[in-house]
Amino acid sequence: MCGIIGYTGSLGASDIILDGLTRMEYRGYDSAGMAYTTPSGKIALRKTVGKVKDLRAICDDDESTCGIGHTRWATHGGVTNANAHPHKVGNVALIHNGIIENYHEIVKEYNLSSDLVSETDSEVVAALINKLYDGDPTKTIKKVLSIIQGSFALGILFGDRPGSIYCVRNVSPMLGTHCKDGSFIASDLTAFIQFTKRYFIIPEYTIVTVRKDGILMEDLDGNNVEPEYLEVNWDVSAAEKDGYDHFMLKEIHEQPQSIIRTITPRIKDGLPDFSDEGIDDDFFKNVSDITIIACGTAMHAGIIGRTLIQKYLKIPVTVTIASEFRYEQPILNENSLVITVSQSGETIDTLAALRLAKEYTNKTLSLVNVKGSSIARESNYVLYTHAGPEIAVASTKAYTVQASMFYLLTAKLGLVQNKMSVDDAKAFIKNLEAVPSMMENMLSLDTHIKELTKRMQQSNNAFFIGRGLDYSLSMEGALKLKEISYIHAEAYAAGELKHGTIALITEGIPVIAIASQQHVYSKVISNIREVKARGAYVILISKDENITDNSICDAHLRLPDVDDDFTMFESIVILQMIAYYTAVGKGFNPDQPRNLAKSVTVE
Ligand code: G6P
Repeated sequence: MCGIIGYTGSLGASDIILDGLTRMEYRGYDSAGMAYTTPSGKIALRKTVGKVKDLRAICDDDESTCGIGHTRWATHGGVTNANAHPHKVGNVALIHNGIIENYHEIVKEYNLSSDLVSETDSEVVAALINKLYDGDPTKTIKKVLSIIQGSFALGILFGDRPGSIYCVRNVSPMLGTHCKDGSFIASDLTAFIQFTKRYFIIPEYTIVTVRKDGILMEDLDGNNVEPEYLEVNWDVSAAEKDGYDHFMLKEIHEQPQSIIRTITPRIKDGLPDFSDEGIDDDFFKNVSDITIIACGTAMHAGIIGRTLIQKYLKIPVTVTIASEFRYEQPILNENSLVITVSQSGETIDTLAALRLAKEYTNKTLSLVNVKGSSIARESNYVLYTHAGPEIAVASTKAYTVQASMFYLLTAKLGLVQNKMSVDDAKAFIKNLEAVPSMMENMLSLDTHIKELTKRMQQSNNAFFIGRGLDYSLSMEGALKLKEISYIHAEAYAAGELKHGTIALITEGIPVIAIASQQHVYSKVISNIREVKARGAYVILISKDENITDNSICDAHLRLPDVDDDFTMFESIVILQMIAYYTAVGKGFNPDQPRNLAKSVTVE
């Protein structure tokens, strides 16, 4: 969603801001803008609908060393130049990520309508600041904070304070840093990673003054707040394409290494160990039930977790969409374990759901990829996945590292609750350790898969079928295909097809059938015959080396002979590549699908 950057220092602000906005393009946006202060006390403004390159074309000032930039993902008001950020009212310019809930009331109460030229909630905040400004930015921002309601990360310039940027946030993410080249604020680290790996999370309701020589923070009572610096273990090259055509393809290829980085430090003597995270076995002992809460692909990783944990632990596991959970009456007690899963750690619905869950249980654990993010900080415990930065909107490596974490958790819970013997747990973990090299082998199928997708590109619909773990996985395969190729795709439990969906199977409809689970193999094959008999174009994914019969499928992608519980890692590489090559073949950019955002920070 909206990307924010601010820079003040000794270098030209314009290029730094434009480069930062380019690096945040992956978040999803439809317009871009920039404002900078000039030494004469003026604020210059440039903004446009379209891409950052369109903004670059209208930016001509390389003199200013202080400015703010924004990529907008429309919520309130259409995609127009007027609605793009920054919003300038009087001598105040403002960028905003989030939603101001009471903006209508504010316009009325403070009589702001004649100041407004856009349809946005954000411009109202700029107008309010301008109206209340008494020459003291910090005091004015505090006044404004007592009026506005909602989620926000705000970056503000005051014309009479050249060289300074002011910010404040509630819920919506914003980071800050100071380094030898100056000071930055940004929605995420990719915006300034080429300058420093050190950053801090701006605390909520803290007024931040960003200057060339440092960053000052004070809370609402006027006390100084010290930044708590963190450091990431990746650098700018991790956020670049590195010779791949797209970030998505690069990230598909990075999966084996991401899994190695995620699981290896947590395996000691062949068994799962979370002691480095301070999670001891007692935490898992009395767990009576598990609720997994997440959105999108992270929720699909949770479905893999449910399938595994229920199989080995035989305790109830519920997977809930965060935006549903937070408005329901949770069925949780103090022995319920709540696992929130999030790549960004900032998805607002998942964060709100976590806050609600904490009213019922102290056993909250999050699986998060971004260090220090809100969900990570607010959970009782966190297990970081180590996928590195995921730039493509369609999640790939974040999904497989989240899934790998559920395998570790299954073994840990199994051991602690005496549902798995030490030998069985060791064998299970050994299979997990073999996953990266097996996935590596699957990547070599890319030419074959690319060829197959020529058929997929011609269809408006596709179906994914499977049973058990394969059904859990097929949901993610369908999501990948629809989000980047815009082909309507649905996942069905293979046995359920004949209760309705088979009516949609007509000549040439692609059906991707996953049949890797031995105990239901013959059943899935029967289901495949049913769709094949109705003209479907079937791509079968299985371990079976004897598939020669073209009454079963049109194409067969063979999985290595791994344990049934672990085939998902190999199968997902195939499904990700089917989606990728289908989208690219249709001429779409899979890294920035229409209407989608990487990190969803509005409800
Ligand atoms: C968006 C992204 C998805 C992601 C989901 C949850 O929809 O496009 O790729 O799975 O949000 O994001 P999270 O950061 O919480 O994993």
